[in-house]
Amino acid sequence: MSRKILVTSALPYANGAIHLGHLVEYIQTDVWVRFQKMQPKDQVAECWYVCADDTHGTPIMLRAEKDGITPEALIKRVHDEHARDFAGFHVAFDNFHSTHSPETQEYCNVIYARLKDNGLIEKRTIEQYYDPIKQLFLPDRFIKGECPKCGAQDQYGDNCESCGAAYTPNELKNPYSAISGVKPELRNSDHYFFKLSDARCQGFLRRWTRETGRLQPEAANKMQEWLGADGENRLTDWDISRDAPYFGFEIFDAPGKYFYVWLDAPIGYMGSFKNLCDRKSIDFTEYFRPGATTELYHFIGKDILYFHALFWPAELEHAGLRTPSGVFAHGFLTVDGTKMSKTRGTFITAESYLKTGLDPEWLRYYYAAKLNSTMEDIDLNLEDFVARVNSDLIGKYVNIASRCAGFIGKRFGGKLAATDAEWQKPLREASARIAEAYEQREFGRALREVMALADTANIFVNDKKPWELAKREGQEAELHAACSQAIEAFRLLTLYLKPVLPKVAEAVEAFLGIAPLAWNDALAALPAGHAIKPYSHLMTRIDPKLIDTLVEANKESLAPTAENQAPAKESEKKGEAAAAPVPAEANGPIGIDDFMKVDLRVARIVDAGHVEGAEKLVRLTLDIGESKPRQVFAGIKSAYDPAQLVGRLTVMVANLAPRKMRFGVSEGMILAASDPAGATPGIFLLAPDAGALPGMRVK
Ligand code: MSP
Ligand code: ZN
Repeated sequence: MSRKILVTSALPYANGAIHLGHLVEYIQTDVWVRFQKMQPKDQVAECWYVCADDTHGTPIMLRAEKDGITPEALIKRVHDEHARDFAGFHVAFDNFHSTHSPETQEYCNVIYARLKDNGLIEKRTIEQYYDPIKQLFLPDRFIKGECPKCGAQDQYGDNCESCGAAYTPNELKNPYSAISGVKPELRNSDHYFFKLSDARCQGFLRRWTRETGRLQPEAANKMQEWLGADGENRLTDWDISRDAPYFGFEIFDAPGKYFYVWLDAPIGYMGSFKNLCDRKSIDFTEYFRPGATTELYHFIGKDILYFHALFWPAELEHAGLRTPSGVFAHGFLTVDGTKMSKTRGTFITAESYLKTGLDPEWLRYYYAAKLNSTMEDIDLNLEDFVARVNSDLIGKYVNIASRCAGFIGKRFGGKLAATDAEWQKPLREASARIAEAYEQREFGRALREVMALADTANIFVNDKKPWELAKREGQEAELHAACSQAIEAFRLLTLYLKPVLPKVAEAVEAFLGIAPLAWNDALAALPAGHAIKPYSHLMTRIDPKLIDTLVEANKESLAPTAENQAPAKESEKKGEAAAAPVPAEANGPIGIDDFMKVDLRVARIVDAGHVEGAEKLVRLTLDIGESKPRQVFAGIKSAYDPAQLVGRLTVMVANLAPRKMRFGVSEGMILAASDPAGATPGIFLLAPDAGALPGMRVK
């Protein structure tokens, strides 16, 4: 029976730019899908590739607030940017949708209702930290404090980066809100849980995770560890609701409660596909009914395996839907052997790569050459990247055409002689083996095989030396044959590289004057007399200088990224060293990045007043263009009468962590000059030139 396949990549968060780490996944998936789409219809009848932006949750809500826009406006803007970046790297989704869509909401409701009917949803009251200033319940990542085990400061609410301990936020010592800086209060709230501890879920997952093809061996082992031995009940229930305010879907039978972003995110796969089905008249139920014979594969990073290998199949199964045929996890990208880093300029955005003028197919080739079916991390070594692409793609592959095509045009009117020859046999016979490697996601193996074949073709060209044949009289037939055979070899190599290099393949199809290459085109050679077009350049070498430019560009890049899902370490923001304080002189020069971390804004003093019981302080109300003015306590009472300040413009630090003082919370700091030596007394408030407006950035 001919296969029908639905493929997904993980849904990128809608509050950050696509970077080269993300692209490992989207390129891997795209190569696999393009390979499937090249298969004959009687083997693969259809293959759909869908994705969407992951748009819900507290970080996105707060990010929009910070940018002074609605979450809807934020996710719209980011969707456009993501779509542009994916297209730039030739990632060809059949649909790139959004989880903030009616389709996704509908399936959330259906799945939740069915789980509930099955007795797998339970309401429970839990005690949770609440930020009384921001007036919201704090996600674990937004609560910080001292580690209960080792005492390290400024640790997140779920685990300690210093000693690695895992705990609940309630165990943190001296907790504070990472949003407002205030001490959070414990409050009760009703939450909805998916009962993963139910014997039905545990039993199902034990079976499912062991079934062949579902998970990679190392992933299956990890799941067995998490599930524990038979009879053990290790899984705990999963909290799938959040309290208002929350950007997400309100639970239809629980006003004020919202589906947790990780509940609706995978359902976004269904939403995106449903949206495609409606437009293309595809039968959605054929893909999601229980027992479906269609195939469903999720490509993901190893960091989100838990959600895709446990929660998601359990949800689908107990909502009476089909479960994934397979979950394919890949490893993480490192650059030059270490984690991507903004200071080193290796946290490279997709946009900057393209803007610098690098060819997206260079990266597609390099990633594919390094990818296999395991969860191992993959390294982008920038030097090796240049060397590999130049030697494989330019030196071996393109070289075949560039050395032979010209003669066909100049000497033989663009017409080929017989192209088939005995020496090409290995090139044709490799088709099945290369297909097998692509199918198994062993792209590295596939490309090694292709490059070995390119070597064979180059040996042929080197032996024949068309450039010498061309100079000798009476060798026309031999020249014609050699070049025609080389062109046929080049056609085969192009076919095998097409999932990885779709644009180059398109250009070659135009040059050869042939229909889009499909996998079975390996079987028949181009006929004698076939006319080709004049050869024009297919791909250039990488100039290593471009890489330097790219790294430099990303050193300066200040754009917030997906990395900022949780707030940056507070210790960094406050300039406090967690352990030993560093004297000011020891800081040395700072980079522009460090300076740009300080968000300086023009502020209008809309109100100013004395503070009861504070000798030095003035209470200021500052407008910096936000919906709510800021309150700041400033030690300028000795120099300024509050009444005389009202209406003035000054400069404030807008992203200083709020500080709780005896008189209230101070939400920033204004800038003033004074003589450190004290020889000239006085405090001098900074003011911008006329024309500046509240909220303008100072830099
Ligand atoms: N929104 C979730 C996924 C929800 S799926 C229902 C998410 N988003 S993400 O933007 O953080 O990551 C999207 C995908 O990119 C994930 O599969 C993640 O593993 C992958 N990668 C993000 N950074 C990566 C690297 N540095 N290296 C390799 N893959 C990386 O997770
Ligand atoms: Zn610790």
